[in-house]
Amino acid sequence: MTVPLRLGVNIDHVATIRNARGGMHPDPIRAAVLAAKAGADGITAHLREDRRHISDTDIERLGREIDLPLNLEMAATDEMLEIALRHQPFAACIVPEKREERTTEGGLDAAGGHNHLARFVRDMGSADIRVSLFIEPDPIQVNAAAQLGAPVVELHVGAYCDAEDKVAREHHYRRIIDAAAKAEELGLECHAGHGISFATVGPIAAIPTLMELNIGHFLVGEAIYVGLSDTITEMRRRMDEARSVELPEAIS
Ligand code: PXP
Repeated sequence: MTVPLRLGVNIDHVATIRNARGGMHPDPIRAAVLAAKAGADGITAHLREDRRHISDTDIERLGREIDLPLNLEMAATDEMLEIALRHQPFAACIVPEKREERTTEGGLDAAGGHNHLARFVRDMGSADIRVSLFIEPDPIQVNAAAQLGAPVVELHVGAYCDAEDKVAREHHYRRIIDAAAKAEELGLECHAGHGISFATVGPIAAIPTLMELNIGHFLVGEAIYVGLSDTITEMRRRMDEARSVELPEAIS
């Protein structure tokens, strides 16, 4: 069965550029307004412990000024839990976070981290926040997410998007397909994110049970050349086109 595929636009790197000069420009909330007009179904923002891009004020403003559902990416820390419960975003995606990393490297260890993560899934779920766990496309991790009672998993597709040759690309693509199938079997909603570009969105969007893609860095980078609205419109078009392609074709 093919389900509708939503696009969550991650605006973190608009804030990265703003913070390079410490002022107000470019404003990530203005980017979120444009994203909504260009066909985004949701806005995603990662409030990092070190506040390297999105700030607390950005999160407040996204809640106040943007009508689209907000997906707050957050580490499993008490500080972030308090912020999530206070702001009540539509969704929260729990991600692993290391202070020294350049970006989110790899997925959560939902299996090994069960005892630590359980409270976050429970408390946010009780507050009607849709909780997802950002995990590697690995059936063990999908299973662990289900054990935790998370309703959604987001598969880290960075290894597929960054694969340097056909063999690696096919290997990582197969892992995504298998993990998405496992999620469906366990009744979990399945999303994908990290590293998706015009070059890689097609095969990912073609996986019929995926319900949401969260895309940021490529959109903001490409916007430098053609503008944010046109970039998002083109990503949306590629997603829709890919939905009509048979899966085996998408692998090649
Ligand atoms: N989804 C999650 C959970 C992420 O951590 C990130 C990166 O912040 C993204 C999606 C977006 O990744 P990218 O910026 O590479 O498109």
